[in-house]
Amino acid sequence: MKHLRSIDELGADGIVRILELSAHMAEVNRRSVPKVPALVGRTVVSLFFEDSTRTRISFETAARRLSADTMTFSVSTSSVNKGESLRDTVETVSAMGVAVFVVRHKTSGVPWQISQWTDASVINAGDGWHQHPTQALLDCHTIVTERGLTPAVGCLAGLRIAIVGDVKHSRVARSCTEAFTALGARVVIVAPATLLPPDSSPWTDGGNVEIVDDLDEVIGGVDVVYMLRMQRERMAEALVPNLGEYSTRFGLDRRRAGKLRDGALVMHPGPMNRGVEMVVDPLEVPGSVVTTQVTNGVSVRMAVLFDVLGGSETEVSR
Ligand code: NCD
Repeated sequence: MKHLRSIDELGADGIVRILELSAHMAEVNRRSVPKVPALVGRTVVSLFFEDSTRTRISFETAARRLSADTMTFSVSTSSVNKGESLRDTVETVSAMGVAVFVVRHKTSGVPWQISQWTDASVINAGDGWHQHPTQALLDCHTIVTERGLTPAVGCLAGLRIAIVGDVKHSRVARSCTEAFTALGARVVIVAPATLLPPDSSPWTDGGNVEIVDDLDEVIGGVDVVYMLRMQRERMAEALVPNLGEYSTRFGLDRRRAGKLRDGALVMHPGPMNRGVEMVVDPLEVPGSVVTTQVTNGVSVRMAVLFDVLGGSETEVSR
């Protein structure tokens, strides 16, 4: 796989391949010196046109653990501020000999555009409301490892996963819904009508996704509750009457956390809005794997970097 721009282009077999490779990378990360020479001499550039804490640092850590060189492109100190176009920026950085661009941009589709302007691999680290494939992969890896499963097509069959909140603006919800269902899970979207995509039929038509608007109705019957951030920076209008009311209906508070089944996982991609969608402190919830998701992000991004650069499992265990 030369690029990773969406879950769809990876497909179920591709997801399984990355999950298998992620397990090897997790083993590397448990070593006292968590570093392998797999990508010596290759350069990984993070090209982030939108804010990020965990995704950017996680990719850079992953690249370094594979012994790649890293470059960080910071929009605020670059010639973008002098009016340089995206294409000129990419061609300039590319001319320095780059193996991978890790791209985040507020406009959907930018990673596809960039892959037409460079010979390097392109990994989508979030494009607008559209896709965030490595987040979905690290979430699949987290569910698989926490439940003691073996990566395989259909390995999440029998699991019911609730994705709760601002689905409309969420590239995480789009990528996760595709990835979870590709591995056989059933997804329940829980959101007010104003925070749903204009047309959800491509999801519901497949029969593995249902949409409800009452969190209390489903919370006791699911295996995973995946809380989404309320993405206020992406809203041009008031889509919820007020945050307090939203939180009362769709927030994870102590009462709702108490209704979770034994062994149910609580997930959030971060950053969390405490007191909005996350009312309870995740540390108080036995099934919370929010920090494990962050830890797993490094192994999964190592797997993705290795995969787009044409690596194989044998090379990593050396
Ligand atoms: C997500 C993103 O940027 O899409 N965060 C992340 O990458 N961990 C989710 C969000 O911003 O709500």
